[in-house]
Amino acid sequence: MTTNQTDSNKPTRRGMLKVIGGGVIFAAAGAGGYLVTRDPSTARQPWLNAGQDEVDPRRRALSYAILAPNPHNRQPWVIELRGEGEIILYCDADRHIPHTDPFDRQITIGLGAFIETLVIAASQDGFRVDVQAFPEGDAMPLLDDRPVANIRLVKDASIKADPLLAQIAHRRSNRDAYSLDRQLPDTAIAALSNSAIHGANIGITKEVQKVARLREIGVEAMRIEYVTPRTLGESIDLMRIGKSEIIANPDGISLGGPFFETLALLGQLNRDAMRDPSSFAWKTGLDNTLSPLKTGTAYGWLVSEGNNRLDQIIAGRDYARFNLKATELGISIHPNSQALQEYEEMKPQFNSVHAELGISQPQRVQMFVRMGYGSTVKQSPRWPLANRIRKA
Ligand SMILES: Cc1cc2nc3c(=O)[nH]c(=O)nc-3n(C[C@H](O)[C@H](O)[C@H](O)COP(=O)(O)O)c2cc1C
Repeated sequence: MTTNQTDSNKPTRRGMLKVIGGGVIFAAAGAGGYLVTRDPSTARQPWLNAGQDEVDPRRRALSYAILAPNPHNRQPWVIELRGEGEIILYCDADRHIPHTDPFDRQITIGLGAFIETLVIAASQDGFRVDVQAFPEGDAMPLLDDRPVANIRLVKDASIKADPLLAQIAHRRSNRDAYSLDRQLPDTAIAALSNSAIHGANIGITKEVQKVARLREIGVEAMRIEYVTPRTLGESIDLMRIGKSEIIANPDGISLGGPFFETLALLGQLNRDAMRDPSSFAWKTGLDNTLSPLKTGTAYGWLVSEGNNRLDQIIAGRDYARFNLKATELGISIHPNSQALQEYEEMKPQFNSVHAELGISQPQRVQMFVRMGYGSTVKQSPRWPLANRIRKA
């Protein structure tokens, strides 16, 4: 993902000055009354609705599942409800990110995270969830209109509520700068390393030299994604700038809150300028995108045995658990996926990150995340559940 995507109400004065110059601060201050009305809270409503007012246990569990982490917040899930307890999960053909995810690997991980969030949510009502992934065959090299999973909720007296349930509404991907000196406790590292239950292997390091080497790879990978016009363009096309755009399309890369509203108001958020390497907007965007990646005190990664669709679903399921466990422990995480992406310009970083982590074929690093302690961030937008259900 390119850009320091945020929906923050806490723009720094320094950041504001850096981007738009001191003089216009007065204009922004004058617009303060207007700006407070520009919070895209409607787009965050699904976080408050989760578990509320749903009678059908499938819909109740699904109202949590739509809060799962997923690449570029594309929310690629489409659902059909069949019979009494069945859910058929599909990938929305309009939600691919072909330049940065040419084989739908990340999209599949997001669908795995969706499944796991659903399973955790259903446990509170005593439902076991049987999942049959890709019942009509692996969709390789691209996901197609075949189901991603057949899912069945079955009442089961042995099912206990999963403790991670309490974290679903608090989980975030945090793209802010993190503390540079606060270390993860060993107990937290141990708990996070053991958070995978479906077969992914989790590695975490806070060793200073290793963190420095991984940071260098992650930052350079992000720089490559940014300077490569088609991958930068993919992110720009998915930007939702300001309240109206975010509410109209509560997915993609949301640039909301007073800081971005101010820039938009002043005509400073211009998509053409963002694409132009000679522009101030392009240069500032690069700087703002890279700087938080240079912070934090640890990295984590999820490795799968291979890279078929089931491996990717498993990685997504275990990543959801890892993210929820980090939430429980008060640890911020930020996927730095660029080095894992499969396109020509990224090959050196892809090889470097695998070599640095000691992972070779057929094993595959599926998630690579910056870790540490950051400030509290708001929920990212979501489409309401009703929007993601289609008639069977
Ligand atoms: C497979 C995968 C890859 C991701 N890669 C990135 C990334 O490179 N950069 C980033 O900022 N967020 C990344 N994310 C996080 C998503 O952008 C995030 O989950 C989504 O925007 C929704 O926000 P939330 O997690 O706060 O609900 C990734 C998530 C997944 C599941």
